[in-house]
Amino acid sequence: MKPFVFVLAAIVAVEALTFRMKMQKNDNSNHRVNVWNPSMVSLTNSVHDSGGVVIHNIRRTQYFGEIALGTPEQKFNVSFETGTSNLWIPNRKFENHNFYNHNKSSSYMANGEEIEIRGNGGIVYGFLSQDTLSVGGISIHDQVFAEINHIGMPYKVKSYDGVFGLGFDANAVGHVETPFHRMLASLDKPIFSFYLGNKYTGELTFGILDPKHYKGAINYVDVSSPSQWQIPLDFVKAGDNVIASKTKAIVDTGMAFIVGPKEDVKKLADSVGAKPIYFGGYTIDCNSPGPDITWGIGGKTFILQKEDYTLQGTNLCFFTFIDSDGPWILGDTFISKYYTIFDVSSNNKPRIGFAQLA
Ligand SMILES: *[C@@H]1O[C@H](CO)[C@@H](O)[C@H](O)[C@H]1NC(C)=O
Ligand SMILES: *[C@@H]1O[C@H](CO)[C@@H](O)[C@H](O)[C@H]1NC(C)=O
Repeated sequence: MKPFVFVLAAIVAVEALTFRMKMQKNDNSNHRVNVWNPSMVSLTNSVHDSGGVVIHNIRRTQYFGEIALGTPEQKFNVSFETGTSNLWIPNRKFENHNFYNHNKSSSYMANGEEIEIRGNGGIVYGFLSQDTLSVGGISIHDQVFAEINHIGMPYKVKSYDGVFGLGFDANAVGHVETPFHRMLASLDKPIFSFYLGNKYTGELTFGILDPKHYKGAINYVDVSSPSQWQIPLDFVKAGDNVIASKTKAIVDTGMAFIVGPKEDVKKLADSVGAKPIYFGGYTIDCNSPGPDITWGIGGKTFILQKEDYTLQGTNLCFFTFIDSDGPWILGDTFISKYYTIFDVSSNNKPRIGFAQLA
């Protein structure tokens, strides 16, 4: 086995065990949100703005892009995660990760409230601070975020420094208003969209869709929970075998693979010829044909082919599904196959849209 297989196996293991910018804009003069006041955020006083972040990926297992905090800017790579709702950055050196130093920022404001954040990868500890946040050319003043000084997660194998939660305020630890919520007032549309990229660099846009990256109709489905990016899942099929029906799925850009209930993922693995490995993931024969996995969402079907649900090692391949005791989570294995739009919408009915990649 070549080293890449071990690296992949380690990444698969980490995912399984813990599971639990070409568009640069420089004119920031109009996006000032000066004080910590939720009432200032409304969808009606839009100043029509938008921004984009280049998304890098490491072999389809980690996706991240750059943000900056402070004055002058301190830059970080963050994982943009729709399954969590906090922004956190380390404030001391952890291996070769970048870290934030508030002593070097003239726009830093102390808060100090202690915080503990649980995410896909484990728990991190630290305290709240406020500073100017720049993301995709949009600048947000006095954003509350967490400075992290203890990381209880397999951080070494991560290629990003921190996490940028794109979930709802309701799930934000410390009742922090999320950066996306605070950005809403200045955006053209109350949306953000992911083109994850895979073979190419991807793009996350705020406030607009990028017609370069999708074609045809966008199929929207209303979210089924007021506090999560969760949608109804009509069915999951492997070839003609029905694996699950009438259930729900969280759509989480921070989860590399697809997570499903134990029994369902076992059935699915059997149907595609994947074999369990001791740490919880599955291997799959690189050369077997492998049926399509079809997802019924909002009355439409979405297809993953074998190359979409397989990570290729040298002579060993991994099946990008993880079983768990929880609900379905459509992670990057799914999201990278479709242009995915998260729309908080102005009528209080958030929805997620999927479109074919251009
Ligand atoms: C973020 O990651 C990209 C791709 O690996 C890298 O080119 C860039 O220098 C990183 N940015 C920072 C601030 O480390
Ligand atoms: C920032 O300054 C404080 C007080 O002088 C000090 O305790 C802290 O270690 C400094 N932080 C960093 C990251 O240098």
